[in-house]
Amino acid sequence: MANTVIVGMQWGDEGKGKIVDLLCPAFDAVVRYQGGHNAGHTVKFKDRHFSLHLVPSGILHEGMLCALGNGMVLAPDAFLAELARLFEAGVRFDGRLFVSNRAHLLLPPHAALDQAREAARGREKIGTTARGIGPAYEGKVARYGLRLCDLSAPDLEDRLRAQLARIQGELNAVGGEPLPSPAFLADQCRGWAERLRPCIADTAVLLNEWIDAGKCLLFEGAQGTLLDVDFGTFPFVTSSNSTAGGASTGTGVPPTRIHGAMGVLKAYTTRVGGGPFPTELTGAEGEYLRERGNEFGTTTGRPRRCGWLDLVVGRYAKMLNGIDAIALTKLDVLDTLDEIPVCVGYRVRGEVLRHLPAERHLLEAAEPVLETLPGWKANTVGIVEHGDLPQAARDYIDLIEQEVGAPVVLTSTGPRREETIVRDHPALQRLTSQRLPQVLAQR
Ligand code: GDP
Ligand code: IMO
Ligand code: MG
Repeated sequence: MANTVIVGMQWGDEGKGKIVDLLCPAFDAVVRYQGGHNAGHTVKFKDRHFSLHLVPSGILHEGMLCALGNGMVLAPDAFLAELARLFEAGVRFDGRLFVSNRAHLLLPPHAALDQAREAARGREKIGTTARGIGPAYEGKVARYGLRLCDLSAPDLEDRLRAQLARIQGELNAVGGEPLPSPAFLADQCRGWAERLRPCIADTAVLLNEWIDAGKCLLFEGAQGTLLDVDFGTFPFVTSSNSTAGGASTGTGVPPTRIHGAMGVLKAYTTRVGGGPFPTELTGAEGEYLRERGNEFGTTTGRPRRCGWLDLVVGRYAKMLNGIDAIALTKLDVLDTLDEIPVCVGYRVRGEVLRHLPAERHLLEAAEPVLETLPGWKANTVGIVEHGDLPQAARDYIDLIEQEVGAPVVLTSTGPRREETIVRDHPALQRLTSQRLPQVLAQR
């Protein structure tokens, strides 16, 4: 029985939502472990289309257990609004959706601070999602934040007063507006507590009990490896550990009970917000990928920056997450290109690097070493058999496998669940506890 992590191998938006949804029949529960409503995960099947932000993508499968771990930051208003939208769309989640009592609360003042700071940073802005993610995690690390279990604390208002004073102090320095009173916020929190009560739980205990009972867990990463606060392109990162290790600290499931990782890799590269991006295409080619790939943010609607596939990034992600197998997405977006350059190294000050440098100035100076492959110039949309792909597309996949050092076991050829090549590979069999027939049956 395998507990598996799904993790983004680039700068987010690789198609994690689609892959999690596809694999659900092989698992009993889907668990988010970090981030908050900065995430935007798209799931499409038949004529249905969902955008998920806080709720695990497994929620769309009837009976699938879902949990939000302690490593997340939870905005109650955004969570309740998302639940209302799902309910409206006919999704029922009573008794199968749980939120950690140790997850930190993301409150409206956090978002106000995020926005005011970004405005004050000017050219140095990170390009955050403006949701308040950074300030909420700061409250956790600085040890003044409030957790979901604190919503019913007798001294809630006093603790909110202390938190508001700290946030207001910084807001004043960056030209922000006055925040609501502690009494007002305490009232809001009591209202949210009432509505959230049925799903708040000690999810660390719950998840370990599920594993004891033989259930298989799928951990749904948000963001991507290069946005990880430790290993990403710091400081242009998010404020959590989006790499596979976060699945343990962010849920209370020990590393010894997590058995493998699947990396989601987009067939080219995108990033939203600021920061280094060695293979970025700023001209017509980038525009072409953006239009054909519909690269506009699921959460903010912002146009995504686009560039060629970067296998230095791919190798780095393979190493950090212990990627056993790759889900390659959006291959179809490359269908019309004459040739497809791929980055296999960085040239920095006359030296070729095969690994990602930590220093921002080196990364900014990195010139991609490109290997150019012929395009396949054929329609791959909706192909479900690897053998039906044009030879040049299979060569592209072979190069990825060689350079990254992991097999491509899923290839996505369109946004919908049905549009996926599932290869009967031992690595995929292992990551899905030999339940591939169930996955194929729903596709
Ligand atoms: P996530 O954050 O990693 O879940 O990814 P997003 O949902 O933010 O972005 C991925 C986008 O690509 C969504 O609009 C998906 O519907 C779409 N998508 C996923 N896989 C494919 C694919 O293979 N081909 C195409 N054309 N679109 C895809
Ligand atoms: P999913 O899960 C892509 C980016 C923001 C910004 C940086 C910091 O859909 O892949 P934050 O609001 O987290 O403080 O912003 O991280 N970012 C994402 N980019 N996909 C995401 O999530 C992202 N979540 C955050 O654009 O550059
Ligand atoms: Mg996304």
